[in-house]
Amino acid sequence: MTGYAAITGWGKCVPPAILTNDDIASVIDTSDEWIRTRSGIRERRVSHVPGSDLAAVAAQRALAAADADVNDVDLLIIATCTPDTVIPSTAAHVQRKIGAYNAAVFDLNAGCSGFVYSLSVATSMIRSGAFKKAVVIGSERITWFLNWSLRDTAVLFGDGAGAVVVESSEQESGLLYSHLGCEGDAAEALQIPNFGTAGNRFVDDYGVFGVQFDGREIFRRAVKGMAKETKIVLNELGLTDDDIDRIIPHQANLRIIESLAKHLSIDMSKVEVNIQNYGNTSAATIPVAMVEALEAGRIKPGDRILLAAFGAGLTRAAGLVRWGDRTTPLQTSDAELPPCNQTALEILAEAIKHTL
Ligand code: ACO
Repeated sequence: MTGYAAITGWGKCVPPAILTNDDIASVIDTSDEWIRTRSGIRERRVSHVPGSDLAAVAAQRALAAADADVNDVDLLIIATCTPDTVIPSTAAHVQRKIGAYNAAVFDLNAGCSGFVYSLSVATSMIRSGAFKKAVVIGSERITWFLNWSLRDTAVLFGDGAGAVVVESSEQESGLLYSHLGCEGDAAEALQIPNFGTAGNRFVDDYGVFGVQFDGREIFRRAVKGMAKETKIVLNELGLTDDDIDRIIPHQANLRIIESLAKHLSIDMSKVEVNIQNYGNTSAATIPVAMVEALEAGRIKPGDRILLAAFGAGLTRAAGLVRWGDRTTPLQTSDAELPPCNQTALEILAEAIKHTL
């Protein structure tokens, strides 16, 4: 390993169409009160464009924040479990949309842990000396995959993207250590059955698929799994819970986040929470929350920031980021999504009709 891999740019892109709990309650048997008290979610965004569009805008904003030339990007990783297409990768679409033609590009699917996995991979590739400048994106259009007859699942998810630029650096900053794992024995606890080569594409109902999960099993494993990975990371770095300045956890359920904070004896005032606005955007939750923490001045130079995630696989991941000297963007980007002239319910109308 040579040097470090600093985070020098950051950007997010959330689609404009807002789906409130009351909107959902107008089409399925649920209520704002149930969703809020069980998950902490008040509203989420629904994308009118493929996930690669969200990813491209987030990446362009991150590149501007780093004042980086897209031609210097030699690595582009996109964490997603909701690809635009299976072939080619979503990363290939993003490469074309942002013009990063000098980059090696690939998708990484680790479910909701995908951003921490991808940041870990990019950091290692940069610290090896083989790559100099990476764009790491978490982007999901998970509302596309929802089955509206599964009310425990459908109410929890939303769309969005967040991106960071990671560059080789001599200063001790960026992801200092991470630990990744998976509980494949419980792989079925969170899945999209009937989508992929394990399915029979010639049966009549092949077109009906959607995210389904065992909420209680995931809840239990999520808290234990994130706490376990966190302890490994802190031990390796010789740190204690008190050394953590901020936690940016995956946003799956407010109660999971609160349980994790309790497990680690960390006050909730140190924990980033934005699930009320976006729901669970899978691999995008952590980079979006990181961008919002920076924008609000909650990340200071030199802060030690703990990332912790859990997701389909069932994957688990934690990492410790040491923030560098700069917490403000160098430039801004004028990249925007195409305009959206539909409401969230209008965007979802076909999906609701076919799965309800
Ligand atoms: N509206 C109203 N009632 C509902 C809804 C809904 N949307 N969904 C379920 N219910 C009902 C159930 O039918 C059940 O009714 P019953 O008692 O009459 O049988 C009742 O609410 C209670 O259900 P529980 O499963 O006990 O509710 P719980 O408090 O466990 O919360 C939840 C469910 C929110 C899914 C929770 O278990 C959870 O957040 N799990 C983990 C989150 C998760 O899996 N995220 C997926 C991504 S993985 C990841 O990102 C880590």
